[in-house]
Amino acid sequence: MRIWAAFMGVLLCGLVAAADERSEGIAKAEASTRAVAALAKADPTRPIFHVAPEAYWTNDPNGPLLLNGSYHLFSQHNPYGNDWGHMHWAHFTSPDLVHWRHAGIALWPSLSRGEEHCFSGSAIVGPDGLPRMFYTSIGPKTPADTGAEQWMAIGDAGGMHWEKSPKNPVMTLKLHGDLAVRDWRDPYVWKEGNEYLCVLGGEHEGKGAAYLYASADLEAWAFRGVLCEEPEAGRKGSWECPNFFRIGDTWVLIISRDGVRYFTGDFDIAAGTFTPKHQGTLDLGTHYYAPNGLLDAQGRHVLWGWATGLAGDHWNNCLTLPRALTVSTAGMLRSTPVPELAGLRSSPLPPGSALAPSCEIEITIPRGTRGLSGIRLENGGKEHGTQTFAVDWNANEVLLGAKRYPLGERDGDAMVLRVFIDRSLVEVYLGDGRALTEVWPGNGQSKLTLETFAEDAAAKPTVQAWNLAAIWQD
Ligand code: FRU
Repeated sequence: MRIWAAFMGVLLCGLVAAADERSEGIAKAEASTRAVAALAKADPTRPIFHVAPEAYWTNDPNGPLLLNGSYHLFSQHNPYGNDWGHMHWAHFTSPDLVHWRHAGIALWPSLSRGEEHCFSGSAIVGPDGLPRMFYTSIGPKTPADTGAEQWMAIGDAGGMHWEKSPKNPVMTLKLHGDLAVRDWRDPYVWKEGNEYLCVLGGEHEGKGAAYLYASADLEAWAFRGVLCEEPEAGRKGSWECPNFFRIGDTWVLIISRDGVRYFTGDFDIAAGTFTPKHQGTLDLGTHYYAPNGLLDAQGRHVLWGWATGLAGDHWNNCLTLPRALTVSTAGMLRSTPVPELAGLRSSPLPPGSALAPSCEIEITIPRGTRGLSGIRLENGGKEHGTQTFAVDWNANEVLLGAKRYPLGERDGDAMVLRVFIDRSLVEVYLGDGRALTEVWPGNGQSKLTLETFAEDAAAKPTVQAWNLAAIWQD
């Protein structure tokens, strides 16, 4: 009896200590971010309709989840500074994918359990109706390159309070037997029939790859094999943040490494083999990485990316707009900003009006035969210069700022460009589903002026523009 009581006492102390550490870890991190939130908010270059923690560093979107009709989204976050470090998961909630609340910190590194970082991952509702997060646990004894572990956290019914599972680690490198996998991280978990499947990124024998695992209960996992490896000889580096999902009959694998690529093809579930048939670049820009997505309430696959390279006063980076994905008949992955974003629009601006530094412009360019047609945006004074978005009908190219891209498939007889400018970030969407994320050289204060031009009068663009409101409801 006495031994039993002592055992219970030790167990209880352990649980209390873990709970204390959790509360302390989260409270300290939230206080740190909140202490500078007003400064970050006051920076005129900080985007207002893109998701980000209240202050400091953010990187990858993590664990997007639809739970009881509400959307939960998380992001890699350093609550202690403007650079990468101390990876926590910041939490955001939304009723509609467009209006968001900051929900503090969901996941913190448990220092007493040897964690230094909670790396990227995904979320899923478990068999008991409670949500689970899967993420990569990193610490001095479990280094990212050779010792990463996969951990699970269990949420309450509302997804607002997360506890780490006593079963952790739920996956270790031992699963691979003789296969030496390095930089093993970023679990992406989904349900397929009666079992749960997971893909993780990494590399073996110098080749980036995605690896497949299966589980009946989300706790005991088995390695099913290499799902896909780098097909290009000489292309180096581990694959990060794999996402693997079906759109219609097509399976899509997205991976990040020196930009974001996708493969579309067939997946033989029983054999665990993926046969890619097409591949492409998910975003044409140089400021997009590590996307993560979910199946939304309408059955759309919606994806957020990390918009990189945007530092300001006590903030650094944000997530991109939510993009709905579809697959074209040619196997290309198309991205379209979710139509709900129209809920942020002002009334349409009368032609010739100046635009606020956070705005949306829709440009329709009828087919032309020669020269350039498009818009020029004077970006808040001479010191910031002019940006052009246009089509070059001689070269059959699209001009987006300083860069040119081949003209792709087009919507009927007109090229439609949608441009979202958010103070220091721009996202451009082409009618054929290509997207581009870039830094916008705005000062965030000056209005933008817009003029249309066309060397071929038949290809004179028409423009609709709106100022866009902030997404934050808190
Ligand atoms: C991608 C990435 C992930 C990792 C996370 C760490 O940007 O390197 O592979 O989990 O960032 O913050």
